[in-house]
Amino acid sequence: MKRIAVLTSGGDAPGMNAAIRAVVRTAIYYDSEIIGVKRGYSGLMKGEFMKMDLGSVADIIHRGGTILQTARCPEFKTAEGREQAVLRMKEARIEGLIAIGGDGTFRGALELDKLGISVIGIPGTIDNDIPCTEKTIGFDTVLNTVIDSVNKIRDTATSHERIFIIEVMGRNSGFIALDAGLAAGAESILIPEIPLDISSVIKNIERGRSRGKRHSIIMLAEGVADSVEVTRRIKQESGMDTRLSILGYIQRGGTPSAQDRILASRMGSEAVRLLMQGERGKMIGIEGDTIKSADIVCALEQKKSINFADYRLAGILSI
Ligand code: ADP
Ligand code: F6P
Repeated sequence: MKRIAVLTSGGDAPGMNAAIRAVVRTAIYYDSEIIGVKRGYSGLMKGEFMKMDLGSVADIIHRGGTILQTARCPEFKTAEGREQAVLRMKEARIEGLIAIGGDGTFRGALELDKLGISVIGIPGTIDNDIPCTEKTIGFDTVLNTVIDSVNKIRDTATSHERIFIIEVMGRNSGFIALDAGLAAGAESILIPEIPLDISSVIKNIERGRSRGKRHSIIMLAEGVADSVEVTRRIKQESGMDTRLSILGYIQRGGTPSAQDRILASRMGSEAVRLLMQGERGKMIGIEGDTIKSADIVCALEQKKSINFADYRLAGILSI
């Protein structure tokens, strides 16, 4: 392929820039021209293209966000929107596309594949909810961000002898809450994959209190229930001073961790290599320490499962 493009789409994630850098530099290594598409599928429809060179991705490996910007683009979900994007790509003689984003981005990529465009997907989302890969770009960084925040909240929770409910992102999945909860030593972890049981949260709090513990950290994924209501019920049923801390969008920003930079570099480079080999409709994943690929269609047919053994472990370790 002599001219390919790269875009970032959906929710941004720390490490997307490192992935863009790897895509651009590997494409140039293979003597291909590389075009950056601004604002995801929205820019693809409007022809917002810019030629990238080695210097255009200098000094970005350590930056959060995405230099290409990102967007949610409902128009791309229509056949007319996608046809317009294909037209813009043909006019610009773009032969292949690398799409960095979450499952929505992958659905869009699959639709483009059906229209004859070669697309490779790179999983970039803090949610880690993409099947066929153990980790997505941004997940390691968000865990570190959450743990850092919990460390700080723990100080005030101890001083004031309070219960803290910490709401983290994860509309449909509990990956962030589970791993951050395990790493931060939370007493209870509430995730969408497990039915909400306030009485067991109260039991945990009381068990802690009976051994002299005066504070509690409860990790709550945003997709479980209304966090204000959960906090109200826990306060009422425990009779303890209870506060809610919603971490919000700080979870999406920040400098990517070493793990995410390495993952993004490997995935970005492998995506270009696959395109150059004539592959299409694939996503890049990692299993253990090995970079692999899978059909996007297979990934979208599955739902990634949380690690139930880790969920049980967190329960055992919080006694
Ligand atoms: P993420 O990629 O982080 O999951 P979204 O779900 O918002 O984020 O998806 C990003 C974009 O992908 C959407 O704004 C839309 O342009 C495109 N997209 C999502 N689902 C589809 C679909 N079923 N068909 C075509 N495009 C889609
Ligand atoms: O990036 C994924 C995610 O952070 C989800 O966990 C969250 O629910 C959602 O994006 C919110 O993002 P936005 O407000 O940009 O739609």
